[in-house]
Amino acid sequence: MALFTSSTRQVPEAAAVPQHVAVIMDGNGRWAKKRFMPRFSGHAKGVEMVRKMVRACLERGIEYLTLFAFSSENWRRPEEEVSLLMQLFIKALEQQVDKLDENGVRLRIIGDITRFDSRLQELIRAAEARTAANERLQLTIAANYGGRWDIMQAVNAMLQAQPEKRTGWAEADLEPYLSMHFAPEPDLFIRTGGEERISNFLLWQLAYTELYFTSTLWPEFDRSKFDLAIASYQKRERRFGRTGEQLAGEANA
Ligand code: IPE
Ligand code: IPE
Ligand code: MG
Repeated sequence: MALFTSSTRQVPEAAAVPQHVAVIMDGNGRWAKKRFMPRFSGHAKGVEMVRKMVRACLERGIEYLTLFAFSSENWRRPEEEVSLLMQLFIKALEQQVDKLDENGVRLRIIGDITRFDSRLQELIRAAEARTAANERLQLTIAANYGGRWDIMQAVNAMLQAQPEKRTGWAEADLEPYLSMHFAPEPDLFIRTGGEERISNFLLWQLAYTELYFTSTLWPEFDRSKFDLAIASYQKRERRFGRTGEQLAGEANA
């Protein structure tokens, strides 16, 4: 019997390590403020935490890590902060790509990168090309990314590919054009920094993701905090619309 007409996935095995973790890394500014330091030092510390997070994912066998680094709304910040964030992004690409490559990490950037300066765009393209054959961990950085932007760019690309087709589109027609087309939907979503919102991150893909919100600020989100998030995920019962009894029956079958 075809159980699902839904596009969301079959029920994955309980208590497994999440295959795909998506994170809104929030709280850098407040972390710096607490220490009477400029917001920028919070962002610098945030980059350090990204390195640690990548290492933790490699050690735990997590296959996809998707990080929200700069939203399409973050252009509204003071010009100086935006410019410092861009410089930090450039520096991180210049300094980290070798190490990522050595560790078998494939790096992708999703978002509208045409708004970045040409040097940054060039570094992004080079980093993606350099790591394109790596398979151990798929690391995706969302930069100038917005979930609504993503859906609209996918709709436009889909329509352009088949201009004669006027109606009858299915979810599966759109999916190949979404920025995250190469990955399964996130199993676990983490937002640090205390806010409990999605802030226009992966709107399409988070349909059935387990959500985890923590007040821990991103620069303090270390391994032990990450393990707490994974432990919380492992306790969840992912029903994808079914009843708990159905799942128990399946486990006994
Ligand atoms: C998240 O930290 C990083 C970016 C949005 C670039 P914030 O800069 O939003 O930190 P808070 O929320 O002000 O503490
Ligand atoms: C969301 O953080 C985007 C990133 C972490 C890059 P913000 O701190 O900008 O989110 P809002 O605007 O407070 O929701
Ligand atoms: Mg914030």
